[in-house]
Amino acid sequence: MTLTAPSEASAGPSPAASSRDLSRHPVALDVQHLVKGFRKKTGGSLLRPQYSESRAVDDVTFQVRRAEIYGVLGPNGSGKSTLIRAMSTLLIPDSGEVTVFGLDVVRDEAQVRRLLNRVSVDAAFYKKLSPRENLLYSAQLYGLSPEVAEERALETLKRLGLKEKAFYEPLEEMSRGMQQKVAIARAFLTSPVVVLLDEPTTGLDPKSRRDVQEFVLELRDVHQATIILTTHDMPEAERLCDRIAFISGGRFVAEGTPDELRALAGEGKSLEDAFIELTGEDLEEKGEEEP
Ligand SMILES: Nc1ncnc2c1ncn2[C@@H]1O[C@H](COP(=O)(O)OP(=O)(O)O)[C@@H](O)[C@H]1O
Ligand SMILES: [Mg+2]
Repeated sequence: MTLTAPSEASAGPSPAASSRDLSRHPVALDVQHLVKGFRKKTGGSLLRPQYSESRAVDDVTFQVRRAEIYGVLGPNGSGKSTLIRAMSTLLIPDSGEVTVFGLDVVRDEAQVRRLLNRVSVDAAFYKKLSPRENLLYSAQLYGLSPEVAEERALETLKRLGLKEKAFYEPLEEMSRGMQQKVAIARAFLTSPVVVLLDEPTTGLDPKSRRDVQEFVLELRDVHQATIILTTHDMPEAERLCDRIAFISGGRFVAEGTPDELRALAGEGKSLEDAFIELTGEDLEEKGEEEP
């Protein structure tokens, strides 16, 4: 399947995110009661260590429709990356189910991997090699021909505003913004119809952030891609997302369009007000919890 698969959505310029009617689009991603915990050592002795189980993702349920941009908004440590990893077949859920166009991410892993790809902040690359070399290496792992991969990668990178020259230079000489663009180009080698973007713009300069945001909107509008995006940037969530979930302590505490979420906090309130009111937390950078 490719990004250009037909869809019932009409072509043409898309209206403002909050007024798009997606109710007739099929469900692309279905997450039901997802739980993922980690065992943490809490004391005891060397021979008899004591552990406690803490849930990074705690009974999360939601659905995302074809060509929808769904935002998961929460502070550091709230469970965003664990959720993304469990949806992308990288972590096995403790319980609950995730399906992508009806395919189960655990049972039908190989098929799901052809439909879905993930971009994360901590993308691993061979830093001494160029984007071209890195991407051709990945293409081989994906079973793509080098010619197709190179053309596709260059096209994505140019659209993201990367100069062609940079395609041939070592990655370690590049800014974080440029490296993130390469990570995005890599994810698009497989033409995923569902894209999981884990904090795609965190730590980027304003120009790169803008480039990435434009690209996300284009993916949806031109390719009808379904996008799940995590962020702790409120303006970004408002600009890009059709619907947003607030996540706090591994739980979804609210879900809706930006307008619906603002309304929960009361008249004249901002999305940030709504977040603070509903979670009792601030979105400002806060350190990871101590293990
Ligand atoms: N591999 C892991 N082992 C143990 N604990 C983890 C692991 N990954 C995440 N956690 C814990 O799960 C919680 C959620 O983390 P994470 O999903 O990375 O949040 P976020 O992406 O929102 O910052 C944190 O308390 C974190 O310490
Ligand atoms: Mg994270």
